[in-house]
Amino acid sequence: MDKLLITGGHRLNGDIVISGAKNAALPILCAGLLSADDVVLSNVPSLQDVNTMLKLLRQMGLRVTQENGITTLNGQGIDKLEAPYDMVKTMRASILVLGPLLARFGEAKVSLPGGCAIGSRPVDQHIKGLRAMGAEITIEAGYIHAKAKRLKGARIVTDMITVTGTENLLMAATLAEGETVLENAAREPEVTDLANLLVAMGAKIEGIGTDRLVIQGCDSLHGAEHTVIADRIETATFLCAVAATGGDITLKNTRSDILDVALDKLREAGVVLTTGPDWIRAQMSSRPKAVSFRTTEYPGFPTDMQAQFMALDCVASGSSRVTETIFENRFMHVQEMNRLGAKIEIDGHTAIINGVDKLVGAPVMATDLRASASLVIAGMAAEGETLIDRIYHLDRGYDRMEVKLSAVGAQIQRLK
Ligand code: EPU
Repeated sequence: MDKLLITGGHRLNGDIVISGAKNAALPILCAGLLSADDVVLSNVPSLQDVNTMLKLLRQMGLRVTQENGITTLNGQGIDKLEAPYDMVKTMRASILVLGPLLARFGEAKVSLPGGCAIGSRPVDQHIKGLRAMGAEITIEAGYIHAKAKRLKGARIVTDMITVTGTENLLMAATLAEGETVLENAAREPEVTDLANLLVAMGAKIEGIGTDRLVIQGCDSLHGAEHTVIADRIETATFLCAVAATGGDITLKNTRSDILDVALDKLREAGVVLTTGPDWIRAQMSSRPKAVSFRTTEYPGFPTDMQAQFMALDCVASGSSRVTETIFENRFMHVQEMNRLGAKIEIDGHTAIINGVDKLVGAPVMATDLRASASLVIAGMAAEGETLIDRIYHLDRGYDRMEVKLSAVGAQIQRLK
């Protein structure tokens, strides 16, 4: 199993090109199931979850070609309407095939995802929405079995805001008969990116970017070309890294307008930010100031950035409070950060962080994707060597993170 060996204490200087967003690419790849024509995608990131999704989609009969940075999907020959347990258990986002398969082929069998490191993460809202659209759904032997001759438009109010739930129902509604209204829809930029692709494929969607999506179902969708949106979480992860280590970096091929709250927090921490239409420059010359926040749905502070900001708070002057409201168990990095000398206490869903003058390198274990990224940042800010085990979590969601960071001055080595 690969590990990362980080020698801390190096400032970051230079440019980093940001990849396409993992959480936009995953639903967008599933949208390839909705049409018999070519869906031509650029800026699909090269990472493990994308490979897993492509493997699953190929098993279903989706034709996938990847050439010169372009991923082309063709859904003419789909002949297997099933997502088996061994795929779903490695990647929960596999649930995103449920809506498109059911809508286009009238049937789908998808393994029920289990819990995962960050929380129980049920999919009851996906099921509730599809049932409201007329699907007959049974859960047997660990599988969701869904059938519907043709889905029918409905008004669906989800109990809570769910990102993949919104995406699944949105994709299903594009081919349903009549009008679907999704109330309490997630407004994440990745949902918007999916909706924009669907519109390019001929879907009729109003309210894109709002919490009320109104979809007029069509009989079929055609092919389209689309560029996947920049990864705002990768962007903000590198910004936290420079905030913790100091330096001057420019992130290219990214967007600042989908990162407002995170950028405000970085400014509060003392980072000098300048932004252009597709770049963000971050300069940091002092010790960061502690910042407190509470995770919420977009446009609030993203849960996917909680751990990385906590790494910054560990070495900041002052103390901070970080409250996680989306997932019940997303503080697994805390014990590992404390092994590096951080002073963090957990009180229910809140972590209280007292910034220390310095962290000291130690062996630590990655537990989930964003926790891994936070340990890379903490290791870069620490004195001496940090060895991070189980970095397959990192490879699931970051496109060559250690290569990108090494190119701007970090000392990170992958040990095979
Ligand atoms: N929830 C339910 N029932 C449902 C759906 C969700 O109770 O049917 C609960 C969840 O348990 C959670 C909350 O609602 O407490 C929000 O979950 P959501 O469904 O929004 O999460 P998700 O769609 O499974 C996506 C991202 C996550 C990101 C969350 C929140 C993808 C593929 N995944 O997950 O990304 O943390 O939204 O923004 O888009 C990551 O990239 O590291 C990651 C975990």
